[in-house]
Order: sequence, then C-alpha cells, then structure tokens
Amino acid sequence: MTIDSSNNTVPIRTAPLGLPLLSFIQKDPLGAASHFQRHFGDVARLNILFRRIYYFFSPDAVRQILVDQHSDFTRETRLLKIFESFQGKNVLTTEGVDWERQRRILTPGFSPKRVVGYLGLMRDAIDASVGELLPAEPGRSALVDVDFLTTRITMDVILRTLFSHATTQAEASSVSTAIRALTRQSMREVYWAFIPPNWLPYPGRTAKLKHIKTISDLIANHIKARTSKPRDIGTQNDVLDMLLAARDDAPTTGSASLTSQEIHDNCILLFAAGFDTASSALTWWIGLMATHPDVVEKLRKEIEGANLRNSPMEGIAHLPYLNATIKEAMRLYSPSTALFTRVALRDVMIGDTAVSKGTLVAVPIWSLHHDERSFAEPDTFRPNRFMPDASTIPRSAYMPFGAGPHFCLGQHFASMEMALIAAHLAQNFDFALEEGKVLPEPFVDLALKPKSTMRVRFTRRDARKKTNANTIL
Ligand code: HEM
Repeated sequence: MTIDSSNNTVPIRTAPLGLPLLSFIQKDPLGAASHFQRHFGDVARLNILFRRIYYFFSPDAVRQILVDQHSDFTRETRLLKIFESFQGKNVLTTEGVDWERQRRILTPGFSPKRVVGYLGLMRDAIDASVGELLPAEPGRSALVDVDFLTTRITMDVILRTLFSHATTQAEASSVSTAIRALTRQSMREVYWAFIPPNWLPYPGRTAKLKHIKTISDLIANHIKARTSKPRDIGTQNDVLDMLLAARDDAPTTGSASLTSQEIHDNCILLFAAGFDTASSALTWWIGLMATHPDVVEKLRKEIEGANLRNSPMEGIAHLPYLNATIKEAMRLYSPSTALFTRVALRDVMIGDTAVSKGTLVAVPIWSLHHDERSFAEPDTFRPNRFMPDASTIPRSAYMPFGAGPHFCLGQHFASMEMALIAAHLAQNFDFALEEGKVLPEPFVDLALKPKSTMRVRFTRRDARKKTNANTIL
C-alpha cells in the first residue's frame, strides 16, 4: 500500500525547465509527493517551467496556508479555467466576490439539518441500485466490480437528490463515462503549457465537446422540466428546489439569488463533485471490509444494538464506529489526494519558510494522511483511531474534505450518504475479496481509484441473523 517510489534516477536538482520532474509528477503524483518528502523533509522547493512550486508536508504549515493565512493565497487560475471550460462559472471555478456570493447562497442548502431532508431520497436510491445489482435471496452471492457498484449507487443518489430523478443503468453508465472522460481530459490539460479555448482545435477537443454536451443537456433538461411547471417548484424538497429558492442573506454585489446560468453551472459541479468522490471512498471502504471481517462484525453489532427508534436514518448516520470505519478508509485512501494548487498573492512566511509572491503551493493530503508522526503505523487499517475516546489527531493532519473557506460544501451530504450506504451493505451482505486477490494499488484518476479491477463477492445474509429490529435499511 505504501507508495514507494524510491527511484533514485528521479531528478530532484531540477534542470532549468524541470521537465523530467513534471513528467514524474504527472505519471505518479503520489509517488512523487512521497519521494519529495523523503528527500527534502517538511518543505520541498522545486522549479518547473520557470515557476517555483513548494510542497508543504507539515500539518501546521498546511493549516497556515488554508486557514490562518488563507487570504494570502488563491487557487491557481489555470486550474480554475480548465474546470470552467466544462462546468461554467460555479462555486468551484470562481474566486473573490463571485465565489463568496455563490458560496453564501449555497451553504444553507448543505447544512446538516438540510441534508437530513435528503435522506429519504438517498435511501430510495440505495434500495433501487442494490436491488438491481446485488442478490436478493438469502445465501445467494455475486462477484461484483466494486467501482461499478459504487458508481451506480452514488450516481443514483446524486440524481435523485438533485432532481428527484431515478436513473437507469444505461443513463448512469453514459453519464459517468462522460464525467470521467472530462476529468481525465482536465488532468491532461493541467500539464499543458497553454490552455486553448474551446474554439481552437486541440487534442481531445471533439470528445470533450461531445461529453460536455451530454452532461449539459442532462442538467438543462431537468431544470427545464421543473421550471416549465412553476407549480412543481418547491414541492420536491430536492437540491434543485433549494437552488431555485436560495437567497443571499447578506447581498453585497450581484443578484441576491442564483441566475439560471449559475443554477445550471452549479448543478454540473454538484453532479460531478458529488458522485465520483463518494464512489471512490465507498469502493475502498468495501475493499477494506472484505479484508477485515472482524471490523464488519463489530460494526454490525453497533448498528443492531443502537436505539434508532426516533430517527432511524439520522441515527445510523451518526453511529461512532460506523463513521470511524469510513473516516479511516478515507485516511488510508483519501478520495482527493491533493487540493487545488494554491498561489501566493504576496510575499509571506509559512513557518520559517519564505514564500514569495507567485509561488505555487501544493497541499498533498495523501502524504499528511500517511505521516507516521500523526498516525502510528500509518499503513494499517485501524478504525479505532477515530473513536471518540482515541488520542487526539493533530490539527490539520486529517483533511479528506479540505480545510479553510474552500472546504468541501458537500461534506455533510457525503458523510451521511456514505454512512447510509455502508450500513445498508454491512447489514445485508457478507463481503469477500475475489479469491487469490489482494487489494489493488491505488491510482489517481482525479478521485483515487483501484489501479486494477477490485472484485468483491457479496453474499446476501439471512435476515434472521439480524439480532434486533434495526433493519430499516
Ligand atoms: C467523499 C466525498 C467527498 C470528498 C472526499 C470531497 C473532497 C473535497 C475537497 C478536498 C474539497 C476542497 C478542494 C480545495 O480546497 O482545493 C472539496 C470541495 C468541494 N466539494 Fe467535495 N468532496 C466530497 C463530496 C462532495 C459532494 C457529495 C458534494 C456535493 C454534493 C461536493 C461538493 C463540493 C464543492 C461544491 C466544493 C467546492 C467548494 C468551494 O470551493 O467553495 N463534494 N471537496
């Protein structure tokens, strides 16, 4: 599991352009970050294409950059432009007052209280996808491609919660193909010297425009279907209803509500951000459960022994051990392995390190999560680290959802969604990794995915084995 890229031929003293370094980072971003940390310690100062790029590996420095001194940094414009070319101008791709306004309008719709209102839609999606892909008869089993399963479930969750739309398998696979192709294209463009506008011919442009159209048409059709029947607005209690009703409580600039274009562009973002990250987290969680049956037993006992009578789904989503297994899975296999590169807006000090204006700053979440100074035996799966009575984890050593003003808007949404799905699967199925296989190596595909197909055998448990009435899932 440890990413050991102790390839001594990697050039650390960079040539003027730093091209070998760039190609190393592009091919193996996790191995490159581990290598830099081993070679340089807490700060790696590199030069690539005439730009300085610093990697910070200590939680204190990362906290300074993202939280305490966040106004000294911005997210790199190039990256935002690449994402804007397929998502438009939304809360991810804007900065400054535009971003502040959109973030203020959207935030209440993703508060823990509001997310509870989406739990029913989430449960419908889980029932439908699991019913379609996993065996229903006790004792029956199926060997399943885990990424396919989790993509299907999380795609259905996001489409139902966004638009109250139940997706079909064909739709889920065409849309996830389009989103993944677009994110891969974006990751290629990150390494280009120049970002071409969409009207110029460039490698991958035709496919990119086709995929943009697939996603944009899907979103536009849902919005049109809702807004063409004004009486339906406000009746669905889904995210689209929330976006249509959302108002800026402290308007300073721009419209107090989202414009139609902003609703469209934010739907694309919520859709894209919402399924692949959660699918990645659940894929690794399932792989870990399939290799740690003792943990599965313990969490079944927790679910079945809990008093969930008053608010069953909300109660499930807050069970400590269940959540600890998910948090630990996201520590070992963080769905986002790095944050958007930041740029220093002025000369600043981060700890003892002088960071001059214009320097690019990389925040490698993967390395923070695997640092033995913060996590003893960092490569071991140990959910107890996240139990309420465990010793405190150093501040900013764990951040699967980022930190500071840009922390993940969907954190509560994703946490509840993952807990519901995980609880449902643990209660109803036994898991075993495909015979003779071990967990695949991870691979950065924007979200962290298995390098080779991870197959798990799901066997439907006998309902009588459930020890009490907590079978609401
Ligand atoms: C396990 C699931 C998820 C993980 C690990 C995750 C991770 C992250 C991270 C690390 C960031 C910060 C990026 C940065 O600062 O550079 C982020 C931002 C964001 N996430 Fe998530 N995310 C998840 C699920 C979701 C979901 C379900 C949604 C929406 C439904 C969502 C919406 C967003 C949005 C809109 C932002 C941009 C926030 C801003 O810049 O103000 N995410 N996410």
